[in-house]
Amino acid sequence: MTNVLILGANGQIARQVIAQLKSSKAAMKLTLFLRNADRIKDIAPADSTIIDGDTTDTDALKKAMKGQDVVYANLAGSNIEAQAKDVVSVMDALRIKRLIWISTLGIYDEVPGKFGEWNNKTLGSYIQNYAAAAQVIEHSDLDYTLVRPAWLTNKDEIDYETTEKSEEFKGTEVSRKSVANFVVHLIQEPNLEVKHSVGVNKPNTDGDKPAWY
Ligand SMILES: NC(=O)c1ccc[n+]([C@@H]2O[C@H](COP(=O)([O-])OP(=O)(O)OC[C@H]3O[C@@H](n4cnc5c(N)ncnc54)[C@H](OP(=O)(O)O)[C@@H]3O)[C@@H](O)[C@H]2O)c1
Repeated sequence: MTNVLILGANGQIARQVIAQLKSSKAAMKLTLFLRNADRIKDIAPADSTIIDGDTTDTDALKKAMKGQDVVYANLAGSNIEAQAKDVVSVMDALRIKRLIWISTLGIYDEVPGKFGEWNNKTLGSYIQNYAAAAQVIEHSDLDYTLVRPAWLTNKDEIDYETTEKSEEFKGTEVSRKSVANFVVHLIQEPNLEVKHSVGVNKPNTDGDKPAWY
């Protein structure tokens, strides 16, 4: 049995991950950590633990992380660097190694061409905040995987390819369902993409900006 803690469990990708884990046969015990915890009851597996908490509360984080094998963080906000510091320090204190962290495209200026320029301009300080959070994690000695999705859609499809940190980012968009599928693989296969930062995009979606924008 693998104990998995999901931080920001009501996030849109996280909800897809929970749904996909529920329909897989892998033996997982989920702990769902979120603010206003009533919101997750509709999809929480019957044997899951639900914790009402904020990641800026390190005591709550410590309680939630005790006994976990994998931490999957689906967080957001301009304080994302501070959240990363708290997550890393509590994981270190409890000697938990495996972290899956949702970041964003553009944090290494790895998005080429006109789309890269548009992405930088459109996302502004969000990119710097997410880059700072990513650095906190990459400078830790955790077994992390950073996930850098393209612009997210709610399309009901699983269709994606990945790029490594050393490569240029591909495409402009990807569905949350696809990113969730990748996260589920990371949760189920402990050695997959360890200490890597992985871009996730839908194939053949190159352009100057996402098609719908
Ligand atoms: N939109 C895009 O095109 C795009 C592209 C690439 C990457 N991303 C990033 O990918 C990540 C996941 O995407 P998503 O669609 O799943 O995002 P989302 O629905 O906004 O989920 C983020 C979750 O983080 C939670 N959160 C934020 N601060 C928290 C705190 N202090 N304590 C506990 N929970 C906290 C939020 O909780 P509350 O519901 O309580 O606010 C929210 O549920 C986000 O960081 C997003 O910025 C987005």
